[in-house]
Amino acid sequence: MLALITGASSGIGKELAIQLANKNYNLILIARRIDKLKNLRAKLKNVEVTIYQTDLTNIEQLNKLIDNIKDKKIDLFINNAGFGIVGKSYNIPTENELNMIDLNIKSLHILTKFALTHMDSGKIVNISSLAAYLPTPKLASYAATKAYVSNYSEAINYELKKANKSLKVLTVAPGPVKTEFNKVAKAKQKLKALDVKTCVKIIIKGIEKNKSLIIPGFKMKLLYFLTRLMPKKLILNASYKIQNKK
Ligand SMILES: NC(=O)c1ccc[n+]([C@@H]2O[C@H](COP(=O)([O-])OP(=O)(O)OC[C@H]3O[C@@H](n4cnc5c(N)ncnc54)[C@H](OP(=O)(O)O)[C@@H]3O)[C@@H](O)[C@H]2O)c1
Repeated sequence: MLALITGASSGIGKELAIQLANKNYNLILIARRIDKLKNLRAKLKNVEVTIYQTDLTNIEQLNKLIDNIKDKKIDLFINNAGFGIVGKSYNIPTENELNMIDLNIKSLHILTKFALTHMDSGKIVNISSLAAYLPTPKLASYAATKAYVSNYSEAINYELKKANKSLKVLTVAPGPVKTEFNKVAKAKQKLKALDVKTCVKIIIKGIEKNKSLIIPGFKMKLLYFLTRLMPKKLILNASYKIQNKK
């Protein structure tokens, strides 16, 4: 079995690599920080690990990556690379947001389309966020990118199901997880975050069970269901208060 993971140099992607290697998956790992990928490869001795240093926001590098992987038979294609920007929208430089859109939306879209047309079976796993399901003041553009990821992935999965294809697209929507995410987003984490090992254990269990929407942690599942029922005004007020703690 072969799994590809984008954003494997830290956080959820790195832990996915470790836990999938323990399940004997061979791996293709992608990120910009090649030293971190090399260190990780050195630790995963029981499986075959191929690494690609790729900035997924750079279209030439993205196309080169696609060229490198086009003949591989991938069973699990995990679009995990992503980052957030915390702050008031009117203070965030537009070019930073466009860079985030290039990674969280554009590269994920291109790689999902590649996987859709190259994989007959197996699973595409797109890492979204719980923020996808609620407009989130002070994390507005990030939450909007993840709304794209969730809506796109869930809709494609339904198309595949209706066409009786064995290929699936699974969506993962974590709440706060202890990774480098907050450092990159320049946020202070005051909310209780899930430990990354536990989060990834739940993700892998969900993948094995073919769950179309995987939400790690009981509290986050509860929050997801509450947001389905609450009026938008209440959601905006609650998420503003939560984000103000950061
Ligand atoms: N942690 C949370 O609280 C949380 C909650 C919900 C959803 N998520 C989502 O989970 C995913 C993983 O995030 P994480 O929490 O594990 O954060 P993380 O520790 O910061 O990991 C992000 C990964 O993405 C890679 N990446 C960033 N920019 C890239 C680029 N331009 N090209 C290629 N790779 C790039 C990073 O590698 P390099 O820097 O080496 O390129 C890193 O491996 C993201 O999609 C995030 O939105 C996280």
